[in-house]
Amino acid sequence: MSELDVHRHPDDITEALRTDVRAGLSATQKWLPSKWFYDARGSELFEEITALPEYYPTRAEREVLGREAAEIARVTGAHTLVELGSGSSEKTRLLLDGLRGHGSLETFVPLDVSESALADAVEAISADYPGLSVRGAIGDFTEHLDLLPGEQPRLVAFLGGTIGNLTPVERGKFLRSVRDVLAEGEWLLLGTDLVKNPETLVRAYDDAAGVTAEFNRNVLRVVNQRLGADFDPDGFEHESYWDAEAEWIEMRLRASADMLVRIPGAGMEVRFTEGEHIRTEISAKFRAGGIRGELADAGFDVERWWTDSGKLFGVSLARSIRA
Ligand code: AVJ
Repeated sequence: MSELDVHRHPDDITEALRTDVRAGLSATQKWLPSKWFYDARGSELFEEITALPEYYPTRAEREVLGREAAEIARVTGAHTLVELGSGSSEKTRLLLDGLRGHGSLETFVPLDVSESALADAVEAISADYPGLSVRGAIGDFTEHLDLLPGEQPRLVAFLGGTIGNLTPVERGKFLRSVRDVLAEGEWLLLGTDLVKNPETLVRAYDDAAGVTAEFNRNVLRVVNQRLGADFDPDGFEHESYWDAEAEWIEMRLRASADMLVRIPGAGMEVRFTEGEHIRTEISAKFRAGGIRGELADAGFDVERWWTDSGKLFGVSLARSIRA
């Protein structure tokens, strides 16, 4: 049994992009929110990234989930698995297998901004898990958390290190909003990439094959398509930058020359000088103590903490303790 709830319609998506483009590209330090990478092409490119030799987070997290899925099921006894920003839901299968094996799982609720990625995932999971109720929801996890379906106790999984795309302030608000939709005793499974040597981090976001560069430029294609802009994606150079103070990777697109870009759908023209960059993503890296503290501040108690054998990536299992 499966269905897809659309919390966001095409016109709303364009309107939201217009708002973000107006704010981000009129700022002194130009920026665009990283969620706009993920149209059909961007979602495909991200899937390609996850298989690159330099991009370790997916493999490291998969190692942890494969090892601990049964334990996660035993500790939580979840009846519902909610996955935020689920993408292709490939790693989700490890969790679904663990929870099904335990016998408690009834409902799976994947939530994603990418309709194409979500529709494929809903279809594939429904086919492979007969008897599981699959209720896909298209939406932005920072906005559409108000209604979480499914029998309690629910386990909300936010994997891949995507929480790192939020600034510390946004992170606090987001974790609090997750806490607010849960009852006491329900669960959050959080994947976080860890601080490590800068070379490894920088290379994970600047692969030799150039897939991440294309993924980065894809945001300009999305703005071209949705807002009728005339960005030349090849006029921008991809950059992966480690901000040691903030402890995050920044992806940037650097203008190779002076240019004027027209964005009719946002009613603006944007001027770039040679070497000027747009910040297109932050991907924060974490330390165990910091995560524990941020979760505690939001009303969660970390009951389990795991890393992969290379200590590259962390997974916390946290219980909601107070409103
Ligand atoms: C999907 C947000 C976890 O930040 O590592 C991959 C996205 N950006 N390569 C990340 C991404 C560049 C990825 N997340």
